[in-house]
Amino acid sequence: TPKKPPRKTGESSFLANARLYGHGITASYGEMCYHDNSLVSASLEALIQHLVPTVDYYPDRSYVFTFLLSSRLFLHPYELMTRVCHLCVEQQRSGDGIQNHVAPKLVQLLTEWTETFPYDFRDERMMRCLKDMTHHVARGDEYSWRAMQQMTQRLIKRLSALGQYEEAVAALNTVAMERPASLKSKQASGQRSDVLSVCDDPFVLAQQLTHIELDRLSFIGPEEFIQTFAMKDPLENHKGFFRKRKTSNLEAYVSWFNRLSYLVATEICMPVKKKHRARIIEFFIDVAQECFNIGNFNSLMAIITGMNMSPVARLKKTWSKVNTDKFEILEHQMDPSSNFSNYRTALRGATQRSETAHSSQEKIVIPFFSLLIKDIYFLNEGCASRLPNGHINFEKLWELAKQVSEFLVWRQVICPFDRDRRILQYLVTTPIFSEDELHLASYESEGPENNMEKDSRRSLSCSSLLSNVNI
Ligand SMILES: *[C@@H]1O[C@H](CO)[C@@H](O)[C@H](O)[C@H]1NC(C)=O
Repeated sequence: TPKKPPRKTGESSFLANARLYGHGITASYGEMCYHDNSLVSASLEALIQHLVPTVDYYPDRSYVFTFLLSSRLFLHPYELMTRVCHLCVEQQRSGDGIQNHVAPKLVQLLTEWTETFPYDFRDERMMRCLKDMTHHVARGDEYSWRAMQQMTQRLIKRLSALGQYEEAVAALNTVAMERPASLKSKQASGQRSDVLSVCDDPFVLAQQLTHIELDRLSFIGPEEFIQTFAMKDPLENHKGFFRKRKTSNLEAYVSWFNRLSYLVATEICMPVKKKHRARIIEFFIDVAQECFNIGNFNSLMAIITGMNMSPVARLKKTWSKVNTDKFEILEHQMDPSSNFSNYRTALRGATQRSETAHSSQEKIVIPFFSLLIKDIYFLNEGCASRLPNGHINFEKLWELAKQVSEFLVWRQVICPFDRDRRILQYLVTTPIFSEDELHLASYESEGPENNMEKDSRRSLSCSSLLSNVNI
């Protein structure tokens, strides 16, 4: 029998393993596989090694981002940090006299990590690791030591801002949950001010919505997109970490969308007079139009969703008083058919405007967020993370990183509009109806039209009576 050729590793194997693949060249360097000079797959070990700088090597920035982002599908960030630091320290030991050349590169890597994924360092062990590395670097390189100190201070600032934000959101949610009795029934709801009494200029309201969107977006960590899937991967053995659900800012943002939809529906269902309800519908159509013009697709979609909720949609007499031409155009823009193709075209338009923007207002792109999450989710589900040989499918990781990095650009925009505290406060805290309450309010506005609606109202009134007497 013919002898197997010896297994070749390292760059010398380039010719041995290179083969034509389509029109491009596929090549393997030991544990790493390239196609047309782009990394397509590799073992986890090789990927970790590839992240570690040496005297004459620093990983490509896009690689650093991609691997830091998605390595958490395979191992805990702390585990990665430990291994990277260990490899660095080993290198310094073996290459005496040249350690000063590696230290600045290690500082650069850790800077990229702490600035792009600061939330990884809410784990005390990560912080301890950072401290250890500071001590390590300090031996013989004062410049790098100082850089480490500054980096740590910036990180602590970021994390404390995050803590404050989380507390503020929790406090606002508590206020919004305190449901005054006035809201429990529509007759008594006259005491609650309505949106028009707080702001009757659609452009100003759209600006304030954009503030809320950008505020909340700015606190979402890029890794939250990936951690939503990592948590439910049964193959991984670090479930404890992910079960803590480190995706709270992403969830807070999704709840904001729901709140806005319910707020719109509440405002429309609450007024006793048909004319007043119609005026509020028209107002929100104008707000939606302004959101579209600004590039705030998330608020736009939340408003359309609120208008399409059945307690609102069924108010036929009210809708008959409204000119719906503008609304139909907006709905067409956000039409889900053909995989949201109209919306995707509009989003591309906004993205191009943003890239060539002269003012910060033109820079604004706020995607319809649930769809972005869905796209990333299906990208992850539709494609294996590992190849049959156990290698990590890096093509998939590039694709994930591409989608998430686009989001990072959008997240950076500073909102150029003036803040109006009273309107902002109203939007995030004013009480809103629950789904059942919306239905009841809607039936009070326009009575049930058929037996199904009559039954529905009867059972809703019954359960609301029961809940009011606290059984
Ligand atoms: C919808 O379009 C997005 C973006 O082009 C794509 O990533 C996704 O796979 C598409 N989904 C379906 C179900 O076709």
